[in-house]
Amino acid sequence: MRRATMLFLAAARALCPRIAPQPTRRSIIRAAKSKVTKPRYATGKAKAVYRGEGLGAPSYDSAPIASSGLPDTSKPYAVLGIETSCDDTAAAIVRSDGTILGEAVASQHEVHAKYGGIVPGLAKEAHEKAIDAVVDEALQQAHLTMEDIGAVAATVGPGLEICLRVGARKAAHLAAKYEKPFLHCHHLEAHCLVARLEEQLEFPYLALLVSGGHCQLLWVQGVGDCSVLGGTLDDALGEAYDKAARMLHLSSETGGGPALEQAALRGNTTAIDLPVPMKKRKDCDFSYAGLKNALRGRVAERRDERGLSDEEQLPDQDVYDLAASFQSVAIEHVEDRLKVAFKRVINEAGSAPTLALVGGVAANAELRRRVSAVASQAGWRLVVPPPRLCTDNGVMVAWSAIEKASLGFSDEIDEEVEVIPRWPFREHAAPEPVKIAVKLASKAERATAAAA
Ligand code: KG4
Ligand code: ZN
Repeated sequence: MRRATMLFLAAARALCPRIAPQPTRRSIIRAAKSKVTKPRYATGKAKAVYRGEGLGAPSYDSAPIASSGLPDTSKPYAVLGIETSCDDTAAAIVRSDGTILGEAVASQHEVHAKYGGIVPGLAKEAHEKAIDAVVDEALQQAHLTMEDIGAVAATVGPGLEICLRVGARKAAHLAAKYEKPFLHCHHLEAHCLVARLEEQLEFPYLALLVSGGHCQLLWVQGVGDCSVLGGTLDDALGEAYDKAARMLHLSSETGGGPALEQAALRGNTTAIDLPVPMKKRKDCDFSYAGLKNALRGRVAERRDERGLSDEEQLPDQDVYDLAASFQSVAIEHVEDRLKVAFKRVINEAGSAPTLALVGGVAANAELRRRVSAVASQAGWRLVVPPPRLCTDNGVMVAWSAIEKASLGFSDEIDEEVEVIPRWPFREHAAPEPVKIAVKLASKAERATAAAA
């Protein structure tokens, strides 16, 4: 592999841990911002670690309406939201009252299944192939055309740069061509805000965000106003599920997490002894690398006990037991951290005992069940979006744009749109945008398109 490509992959992998490992010889054989509005987020690193300084930070100080304008908020309007930050190409049309009018997703599990993780170049190509059809499908379902749309939004970060570009570029083109307001979406914030779409959920609330790249406890005080109570020191929960599924040769066209969840249904949760991470620590941070390594060890032990060679599969029941035991311990770690966070929020904020469980892993039925039990035992209300709104989707992008627009924010459409691959929740820090050139239609072209 060329050195430049290797460096690019190493950098990309640091941003998205679900990226496929660089193929070794063995694995090859085996596998044959427009100006960014800068909301104030509390200090915190993407994969870790903010331990204090109280809760919350002030919200937006002022309301910069960009020259792309705002939708007419005096009556219901529809927003087109586009999401391409990782391995799902998604679009949706959501009305400003929260009604979902149309939605479409093209998932790439099949594309990446044989590589053991997400291959950025293939993900970008798959987004490029799917994006037009996905947007058209969402519009058709909504029985709307672009003329009927009130605003266009796209995820601009965090995520894989070359993938973010596809959605941001498509959204900017459409916004410019049809002269619509344009809004940026912060992917993690959108996961948190979509919990407010179908249920009455007032700020502030505690959010447990569990996805492929993130595992955080967040105090969500408002739009653009979110503090990090704790994050993962190493792997995210979804990443741990994906890696465990790969160790058990479960990776399938449904993706690692769902495959492991299915296998666990047939297993015994206490069959395999695995350590619960950071049992003695009483903070809100997570760690899944130790559990992952312990699982690797147990898999090897089982293989030895059964006298299996590298090529031979473990018996199905062993796989089910390993999956069930892994899932049970992984969730016990979540329960432990939640109990600490519950106490901390009550101590520091005094009230608002509502928890939102969000992000791709929140689609997991066993996690939902056990988090619900812990929450109700502690007297907390739990809000969990339906599974299809937990994994990456266009609805959350459109909805976060509606939340932003209702506060008077929008973003510019320039000759260049910026995407922000690394965009952790942080306070007062300007994100480092990566400029991407988006060639917009000229005024004359737009006039011709409008007349047609
Ligand atoms: O939020 P998401 O769709 O994309 C990111 O922002 O990362 O989350 C994807 C992650 C993947 O790691 C996937 O395996 C996991 O969520 N996931 C699940 C389930 N559905 C998705 N993990 C466990 N059980 C599930 N049912
Ligand atoms: Zn996500």
